[in-house]
Amino acid sequence: MNIIITGASQGIGYEITRLFAVLPETTVIAIARNEKKLNQLKNECSIKSPHSNVVSVSFDLEKIIDQSASITNIILQHVDHIDILINNAGLLINKSFTDISPQEARKIFDVNLFVPALLIKELFPYMGKKNVTHVVNISSMAGFQGSSKYPGLSYYSSSKAALASITECLASEYKDSRVYFNCLALGSVQTDMFAKAFPGYKAQMKPEEMARFIVDFALNGYKHFRGKILPVSIANP
Ligand SMILES: NC(=O)c1ccc[n+]([C@@H]2O[C@H](COP(=O)([O-])OP(=O)(O)OC[C@H]3O[C@@H](n4cnc5c(N)ncnc54)[C@H](OP(=O)(O)O)[C@@H]3O)[C@@H](O)[C@H]2O)c1
Repeated sequence: MNIIITGASQGIGYEITRLFAVLPETTVIAIARNEKKLNQLKNECSIKSPHSNVVSVSFDLEKIIDQSASITNIILQHVDHIDILINNAGLLINKSFTDISPQEARKIFDVNLFVPALLIKELFPYMGKKNVTHVVNISSMAGFQGSSKYPGLSYYSSSKAALASITECLASEYKDSRVYFNCLALGSVQTDMFAKAFPGYKAQMKPEEMARFIVDFALNGYKHFRGKILPVSIANP
């Protein structure tokens, strides 16, 4: 099985990678910018499971927007098809609507919407080839319609709402393919991002607990859900 995870250098993505790495005959391509943290992740995985095959790819995913670099060529050096893609990388800048600059607002939408969308586009030819491919987009309760909204998170929340919406669009557009799209709207998880969003609060859920759910969903959820936006939340914040 070939699995791609973005935002693997810390938080939820780090734990997702660790869980997938123990599965037999699985190649996990772990993408983020921080090379040091990715190498630490790879080492941890190989100590825990000597047969694990974690490929760490230090790459700034924003580069796929202006096409200044290709992640596809790097991925194709290791796998020829994709079974699971988890679009987990995300960016949160906590600033009021009047303080946030257009550049910051744009960057939030780049990382949270355009990066996953363009990654799906680039990798689409390698999906649904051998088996069903499950694309899991990681959104947030912050962008879930009707949920509580918080100051400082307007662009973050709306970018995550857009990611949820495009999931439904792609599921509809490619309903006759073997590529299945779903979106998980996560509630609070204790990570660096959560601390930025809600300074001083403590989340009830640890990254490894949320990662366990996401891994199980990525492996099995496509049998029951297609084109769905599912809230995964015990508290917010
Ligand atoms: N924690 C929560 O309470 C919560 C709640 C709802 C939704 N979520 C969502 O869950 C996902 C994971 O969140 P988290 O809390 O684990 O966040 P985190 O600890 O801040 O981790 C974010 C990850 O995204 C990567 N990333 C950011 N920009 C990137 C870029 N340009 N290129 C490549 N990688 C990039 C970071 O790696 P590098 O810095 O090494 O590039 C890092 O590994 C996010 O999509 C987030 O919005 C989290």
